[in-house]
Amino acid sequence: MPGPIASKRPVLYTVVCAAPPARRIDEFVRQAQGLGWSVRIVLTPTATEWLDIPALAEVSDHPLLIRPREPDEPRTAPADAIVVAPATFNTLNKWAAGINDNAALGVLNESIGLRLPVVAAPYAKATLTAHPAFERSIRALADCGVTVLPTNAIQPAPSGTDAPTWQPVLAALPNLPV
Ligand SMILES: Cc1cc2nc3c(=O)[nH]c(=O)nc-3n(C[C@H](O)[C@H](O)[C@H](O)COP(=O)(O)O)c2cc1C
Repeated sequence: MPGPIASKRPVLYTVVCAAPPARRIDEFVRQAQGLGWSVRIVLTPTATEWLDIPALAEVSDHPLLIRPREPDEPRTAPADAIVVAPATFNTLNKWAAGINDNAALGVLNESIGLRLPVVAAPYAKATLTAHPAFERSIRALADCGVTVLPTNAIQPAPSGTDAPTWQPVLAALPNLPV
């Protein structure tokens, strides 16, 4: 059963943005836990509106991160690695530009300075990815060491179900720290 900060497993912050695969993020979390990660779910403000917060709190090994820390609030378990999946056009562009106006962006922006392993799984339709800011953002983040997966690598599994296959994201995770 998930328990706050009880485990010594490496911590994977899973940043979730407001795109359709977010509704199945619980499946990704369980698969990452199966690989040995202790997962902390981090939500953008819009993803927070979309998703079932009590249900995600049950799945997350650590308290959900959905708003910036208050000045007197203690720090929580730091991340060993970070995934942002699905990564929206909006969050990718804000991250690349260094905008820091929500908790998810705070995690992502600091990940660069902390030199943490980060995997981003962009998910957006062609009418958004055609905007020149998108390619610039992807390139800037990759230049900073972020592993940026091909856009829309998260797709429904071929079995005919509508469940996204998280396999490309899981495969891109760093080796578990020893
Ligand atoms: C039904 C629906 C589907 C959407 N799908 C996507 C998507 O696949 N990719 C994307 O970048 N934005 C998508 N959006 C737009 C984002 O939700 C919107 O830009 C939002 O501000 C993103 O916020 P966030 O980046 O803070 O999560 C969608 C919006 C709606 C209402």
